[in-house]
Amino acid sequence: MIRLDKFLCGSGAGTRSQVKLLLKAGRVSVDGAVEKDGGRKVDPAAQTVALDGTPLGGRRRMVVMLNKPEGYVTATEDPWQKTVMELLPPAWKHQELKPIGRLDKATEGLLLFTNDGELLHRMISPRRRVPKVYYARHEGQADSGDAAAFAAGLTLGDGTLCLPAKLEPLGPGQSRITVVEGKYHQVRRMMAARGMPVSYLERQQEGSLTLGDLPRGQVRELSREEIRTLEQETGGKDPA
Ligand code: URA
Repeated sequence: MIRLDKFLCGSGAGTRSQVKLLLKAGRVSVDGAVEKDGGRKVDPAAQTVALDGTPLGGRRRMVVMLNKPEGYVTATEDPWQKTVMELLPPAWKHQELKPIGRLDKATEGLLLFTNDGELLHRMISPRRRVPKVYYARHEGQADSGDAAAFAAGLTLGDGTLCLPAKLEPLGPGQSRITVVEGKYHQVRRMMAARGMPVSYLERQQEGSLTLGDLPRGQVRELSREEIRTLEQETGGKDPA
């Protein structure tokens, strides 16, 4: 945390006396609200300080949640297909957000983005075992044998071993699946390995974060509290 007036001087807004005048004139905002108190403590890594509406100090740390619709590929660019980047507001372009992990083109639901490289790495590390919860519609009916096979750690058709996962049958052709890693097409391949090809897949939860009432296709920035929780859930250094 740093005093607002000190931060303004340090980012080239003016000398101490000029900064005082800028504050008094109401030309400085913190997270969109005019701030006239130069003694206020701000966290430039987490808050946006702006002069006449233009953010100072460049990038700030952001974590963003998207409720992804089907039809978008998870990539920062693609020559032919629509990417999830197109669903972010243009005002966030300069924040250099990157998707955390990926959802298939056809998969809907919770997709996070961040410009914090360390958090991104921790979130996608299988060693962190961040649980991801999916709702699937599929052929057939999952039973306790399938649940036991998921819990033991499935072997996919090509011999790939999966970490233990949870399969909860929700009724004919519907299941909830919780995995702690993010292999390519993982849930679809796991379900196919048990003879239950998936026709619809939605990610509903990552760690303790859920979609809540965020409409499909919409984004929202996570609160500082939510980011703190995510950090706790992915905690500290990589376990050996
Ligand atoms: N597993 C899949 O098969 N697809 C996804 O998009 C995510 C998990």
